[in-house]
Amino acid sequence: MSPFLLTRTLPEDATDAALRADVLHGLTRTPKTLPPKWFYDAHGSELFDRITDLPEYYPTRAEREILIARAPEIAATTGARTLVELGSGSSEKTRHLLDALPGLHTYVPVDVSESALTQAGQALIAEHPGLGVHALIADFTGGLALPGTPGPRLVAFLGGTIGNLLPAERATFLASVRALLSPGDTLLLGTDLVKDESVLVAAYDDAAGVTAEFNKNVLHVVNRELGADFDPGAFAHVALWDARHEWIEMRLRSLTEQTVKIPALDLAVDFADGEELRTEISAKFREEGVRRELAAAGLDLAHWWTDREGRFALSLSVAR
Ligand code: AVJ
Repeated sequence: MSPFLLTRTLPEDATDAALRADVLHGLTRTPKTLPPKWFYDAHGSELFDRITDLPEYYPTRAEREILIARAPEIAATTGARTLVELGSGSSEKTRHLLDALPGLHTYVPVDVSESALTQAGQALIAEHPGLGVHALIADFTGGLALPGTPGPRLVAFLGGTIGNLLPAERATFLASVRALLSPGDTLLLGTDLVKDESVLVAAYDDAAGVTAEFNKNVLHVVNRELGADFDPGAFAHVALWDARHEWIEMRLRSLTEQTVKIPALDLAVDFADGEELRTEISAKFREEGVRRELAAAGLDLAHWWTDREGRFALSLSVAR
């Protein structure tokens, strides 16, 4: 068997249909929204990688610190033979887990970005002889079909990406993760934590403007995929802290009154001067909230680890 398999669980045109549905739905409602998953074409994935190196964007470094410190405990507690990583991206942090899990049989990275999966998968195989990699091109919020590899299974969902989901979506998502697991299997979940507003806002509005470019990339994606005529220069990047919901919101604010045409949807979208389009929420968490959300999905919190500065947490929970 080839050590690298790539499975597209969604046909390419299903991705296209999902984008159309999201754009049509999101741009014809008030307030306008677009889901963050459409940031991540090849260019957007590259921009996100640059974000993780920014001085203001602490989550990646904080999570890496925890992973390096706790990988041996994670390996000992889980005894994982199959590691499933949801939203694996460049799989950069995964290396620390793979190095600590010598008994691992198969690594299953799951991502919507085929370019990221292929690059990361090939590199990992070169570094870990004997490890099988079965990459899945899939939207991890949908129902996943995992390969029939040996247990115990460890599902990792790192980076704080669960914060991109609304609370009701998180409940559905965690229940679907639980459905992939047998009792005793585990979930390793990365969650960014509530902290000082100025630190949070700076992480989403960096001085170099990389996050602004990342935010506007969704307009380039809609232009390319649906033939739209968004002028990214006619929108301003906005990042704000919603204290009531305890989440960061990213928005694109129209700098003028304008009409955008989207031929593939036979749609013209009017923006008022100053009107904002919400492109992302990034929720920040507290331990008790994470424990409660996991428990509601049938997952019992077993470990809660933070970085030394208490900015970010990794939790390990066990399927009931
Ligand atoms: C990759 C979803 C964890 O929410 O912090 C980074 C994406 N958005 N800067 C986050 C993101 C703006 C990131 N996640």
